[in-house]
Amino acid sequence: MGDDTLIDQVRRRYLEVNGDHPMSEADDVYVREHFVEATPEAMALMLEGRLPLPSYLLSDGTPMVPAEHGRLAEIAGGVDRLHDWFVAFWPDDPATAEEEWGHYLSGQYVCLTEVSPVRIRMKTRRVAEASVAVEILRRDPHDPIGRGMLGQAVDGVLAVPGLESFLLPMTAYDRLRFGGPTVRETWVEAPRREFLTPVAPVWPLRTERLLLRPFRPGDEPALTEAWADEDYTSLLLSGTMNPAEVAEMVRRRSEPGDGTFIGLVAEHDGEVVGDSVLILQGTGLSEGEIGWTVMPRHAGRGYATEAARAVLRLAFEHYGLRRVVANLDARNDRSAALCERLGMRREVHRRGDFWSKGTWTDSYEYALLREEWLAQQP
Ligand SMILES: CC(C)(COP(=O)(O)OP(=O)(O)OC[C@H]1O[C@@H](n2cnc3c(N)ncnc32)[C@H](O)[C@@H]1OP(=O)(O)O)[C@@H](O)C(=O)NCCC(=O)NCCS
Repeated sequence: MGDDTLIDQVRRRYLEVNGDHPMSEADDVYVREHFVEATPEAMALMLEGRLPLPSYLLSDGTPMVPAEHGRLAEIAGGVDRLHDWFVAFWPDDPATAEEEWGHYLSGQYVCLTEVSPVRIRMKTRRVAEASVAVEILRRDPHDPIGRGMLGQAVDGVLAVPGLESFLLPMTAYDRLRFGGPTVRETWVEAPRREFLTPVAPVWPLRTERLLLRPFRPGDEPALTEAWADEDYTSLLLSGTMNPAEVAEMVRRRSEPGDGTFIGLVAEHDGEVVGDSVLILQGTGLSEGEIGWTVMPRHAGRGYATEAARAVLRLAFEHYGLRRVVANLDARNDRSAALCERLGMRREVHRRGDFWSKGTWTDSYEYALLREEWLAQQP
């Protein structure tokens, strides 16, 4: 059997499985970037049903496979052992094992960066979680279980990888052969857009004495004096800033970004008296870190407390957070007192973990859960 015949047979099998759909130039470029040409040896094994069919045929008909196409056979101890090794990953469910084996041999697992039973199982679990989470969140976008599940499914948690890390983008051709959006579009991009993209509230926020609004160009002069003051910055991780650096901070904070960093200035009677930040983070963006400063000449009047209360309300009511934390240098008594005034709990006293201005210092983490905050409300 000559190579041409082999290729023709492989192409025929591929078209039987995938149908005949056009590959655009961009699709060819994508496939060349992520896949490699199949060898004649691999093609012979494909026709015997022992290795997966090509993942794609380029528009010139070249069969393309994942770079690690033969790797699983090696791990299994040879191509003859591949089937038994593969199905052993579903010991209690032989029907699913065989179904997945068939799917694997079809070459259509093109959504995965690495095609292996472990990744196939992970993808199945993460998609199932994302699907349940989306249903829960459509009923209540703040539901903490829904946020946790979706966060894990999309972004992963610690040692559990999320779909973002192991799904390939796929191509326009894939939308044609699979008859709809790609797996990544359905289970990463759409839920991220719908549930994991923060939407800002209507600014400004108003409290009894203050107005809180995002930073804007022109705020620099009001902040320059404080940021030049060594006392003011002594317990912050950053050092003093000169006027150009302050201007640069204001410019960066004025940009919309991805919505996870909310930087606000607090004004009293039109004068900037301090600033507050809220950083959305954690699994399903369900946690926030809060931070604050008050300009030295406005300290001691309760402005920082008043601003922080408004930011906590924003965190729990508008962003639907489950928990808000504050991290501080343990020597920062005024900041710790502010946490206590806000009813936050000192959860952690870390010993010597903070490298700040030439020394290792202790740090505290204060936290407040949504239910604790609700219980404080009159
Ligand atoms: C941390 C920091 C924001 C705390 O500022 P603060 O002035 O102590 O906090 P407030 O603005 O809430 O003011 C509270 C004080 O005003 C008093 N006060 C007066 N009127 C008040 C009112 N209407 N409501 C509440 N408190 C009032 C409070 O009794 C309290 O005084 P006390 O500490 O003597 O008991 C400030 O020290 C600071 O900016 N430090 C530098 C930057 C920094 O370290 N940031 C924190 C990093 S973790």
